[in-house]
Amino acid sequence: MNICVVGTGYVGLVVGTCFADFGNYVVCVDKDTAKIEALRRGELPIYEVGLTDFVRRNKQAGRLVFSTDLPEAVRRSLVVFIAVGTASTGNGSPDLSSVFGVAGEIGRVLTEYKVIVNKSTVPVGTGARVAETIRENLAEPVDFTVVSNPEFLREGTAIDDFLHPDRVVIGTDNSRAQAILKDVYRPLALSNTPILQTTRETAELIKYAANAFLAMKISYINEMAHLCELVGADVGHVAMGIGADARIGPSFLQPGPGYGGSCLPKDTRALLATAQEAGCGLKIIDAVVQVNQEQLERIIDKIRRGVGGSLKGKTIGVLGLAFKANTDDMREAPAVGVIRRLLEESTSIRAYDPVAEHQARKILPDIRYESSPYEAATGCDALVVLTEWNEFRDLDFDGIRGRMRAPVLIDARNMYNPSTLVRAGFVYEGVGRKKA
Ligand SMILES: NC(=O)c1ccc[n+]([C@@H]2O[C@H](COP(=O)([O-])OP(=O)(O)OC[C@H]3O[C@@H](n4cnc5c(N)ncnc54)[C@H](O)[C@@H]3O)[C@@H](O)[C@H]2O)c1
Repeated sequence: MNICVVGTGYVGLVVGTCFADFGNYVVCVDKDTAKIEALRRGELPIYEVGLTDFVRRNKQAGRLVFSTDLPEAVRRSLVVFIAVGTASTGNGSPDLSSVFGVAGEIGRVLTEYKVIVNKSTVPVGTGARVAETIRENLAEPVDFTVVSNPEFLREGTAIDDFLHPDRVVIGTDNSRAQAILKDVYRPLALSNTPILQTTRETAELIKYAANAFLAMKISYINEMAHLCELVGADVGHVAMGIGADARIGPSFLQPGPGYGGSCLPKDTRALLATAQEAGCGLKIIDAVVQVNQEQLERIIDKIRRGVGGSLKGKTIGVLGLAFKANTDDMREAPAVGVIRRLLEESTSIRAYDPVAEHQARKILPDIRYESSPYEAATGCDALVVLTEWNEFRDLDFDGIRGRMRAPVLIDARNMYNPSTLVRAGFVYEGVGRKKA
């Protein structure tokens, strides 16, 4: 099948390459010329484990091409996936201008039946508005179907997530489009992936409801972590104790500096905006967002306590900038909030991240970037771990302590055994753990 994927970001590039790997002919389109030229040279604009080889293999097989020519890509494809960004606007609702911009462009070149699939995360009712936009731009009446097919992959494990999803959601009442989409996803159906067919509106809501639920688990365990600190319990054991219950499950129960990234913060805000427009409140999601904001302040308080009360003039080392391990994505990373707050209190920052530095420099230009955890620790009054990169798990702590002005370690990801760190001479504080 001929497929077009519009938007070659964290989602579009992975999805397009996986569809090519299924044996389809895929054109990945982006309006960013530099991105497309880089992809043609074999250079990836994002860091995603295993993606470089995967792209190369499918490019070499002639199944995957990159283009800025949207009209031509649409003309040669039966299915057009829209996977452009939907960042938050000031009031929490997502900016849909890219989605509607692409819809308009599609409408202008449509001359025969095609399935237009929204993979971008968009509020309920957007599919209908995309269809309207396409219709308004048609030169002559043409049949087409707009489907909602939300994406659930996670950065860092994106290829594996796409190839082994828990479910695929296909939101359309149109039987022709259902059959075509089922064909696209046949390789996954053959490996017993549940394919859930719903209306377009239901599919749109499923994505937000899923992300808000995941955010809720994180805020829940972060609140439990706070309570653990006050009553002398251990949140790691609490998480294990509740996560072992099959009705709850162990994932997304790791306490930390709060959720971040390009999805959970913006999708919780967007769901709240949708509910407000619909005339109802979502009290639980409201609280989830509030708890997440408070979590950042709790990390700042830990650092402040660690350096003896005043942050002014102190040097803080930061290990990890990306919003989670195995990605270079800095969008709404907890490190951004923490570092900005520290800078407000006149600290100097020495930061290290194994892959996200090039993205971080665009957002945090006024901090010092170091090339190892040891350099980041040098001359610091406290060291704070904000991303759970594997390379931080087994550091030479004598070497780290020897370089620091004061041996204070704030472990916002609970990566270390508190007693090991105390034995190594550190003042250690994690999240939701008894002070060692
Ligand atoms: N990143 C994730 O983990 C993830 C997971 C599931 C769903 N989503 C959703 O998928 C969508 C895309 O997210 P992303 O992280 O891949 O975004 P991204 O910012 O990494 O990529 C979006 C791409 O779209 C391109 N683009 C924008 N307007 C365009 C246009 N008019 N024509 C052609 N290209 C255009 C941009 O240049 C960019 O390369 C969002 O709605 C997001 O919420 C993201």
